[in-house]
Amino acid sequence: MKKLFAVLGDPIGHSMSPLMHNDLFTHYNIDAVYLPFQVKPEDLGVSVKGLKALGVGGFNVTVPHKSAIIPFLDGVDELALSIGAVNTVVNEEGKLIGYNTDGPGFLKGLETYVTSLSEQKILLIGAGGAARAIYFTLAKSKPVAVDIANRTVETAVQLVEECPFSVPSKAISLDEANKSLDQYDLIIQTTMIGMYPKVTEQPVDLLHIKQQALVCDIIYNPLNTQFLQEAGQKGARIQNGIDMFVYQGALAFEKWTRISPDIQRMRENVLKQLGGANYVNW
Ligand code: ATR
Repeated sequence: MKKLFAVLGDPIGHSMSPLMHNDLFTHYNIDAVYLPFQVKPEDLGVSVKGLKALGVGGFNVTVPHKSAIIPFLDGVDELALSIGAVNTVVNEEGKLIGYNTDGPGFLKGLETYVTSLSEQKILLIGAGGAARAIYFTLAKSKPVAVDIANRTVETAVQLVEECPFSVPSKAISLDEANKSLDQYDLIIQTTMIGMYPKVTEQPVDLLHIKQQALVCDIIYNPLNTQFLQEAGQKGARIQNGIDMFVYQGALAFEKWTRISPDIQRMRENVLKQLGGANYVNW
């Protein structure tokens, strides 16, 4: 019998996950379908119950449900629980177990560029949900330091205080970050600033960055944000948000099927969907 997989979000129309996972199911000859469902916050509980009753194989959860889903699950793994957000649910013998593959997905994508995190001094820009997943995951890998720059410094202070893994960290303002950018080996932009349609915005200027620094942006529309373009012009290596998106999906697929999917195939599929152009009109 065909297995059901899904993604729950609101809105959900722009999700590229169905395309990515359906292609993998076909490629690996798995009799399954992955469907997007627009679920209003007040319907989340009943939707999860319904999926469980239907014997869903697993599903993804996206904005705005990543935290709200937790009480409706039968179990949540330790990292996802500490992050307070689930993006992947696996039906494990009738029990719905939640995981977070956003942070680990980012880390996997980073491995192509950085061989050892233990020598990296890292700056995260932003202190929202995406920053939290990346911060806690990076903190577990014991880098030299992970500082957090945010418009609202108190939010960054709170994030540092809530991190369950011990790593040297300080919370700073965007202005302070601007002045100290050249201290960092790895700079990760985690806000939505610069995303389509406001493509000319960027959270900090990149006046003084370390030569050979790696600058990452989690945005993938456009593929190369203003922020990344400027970093590239200053001589930094750059990484756009495609890797994080593809690897979070790959880790979810692996949890559902025990197959490590072909990353290059997934990347090409997503790039094709994005039109291969730098700016995409959604
Ligand atoms: P997500 O869960 O997608 O990470 P979020 O929780 O809304 O999104 O977090 C958004 C992040 O972008 C926050 O760090 C936010 O800064 P504040 O904590 O000060 O709100 C940051 N952000 C959003 N718009 C911004 C802007 N115009 N300038 C600077 N930072 C901004």
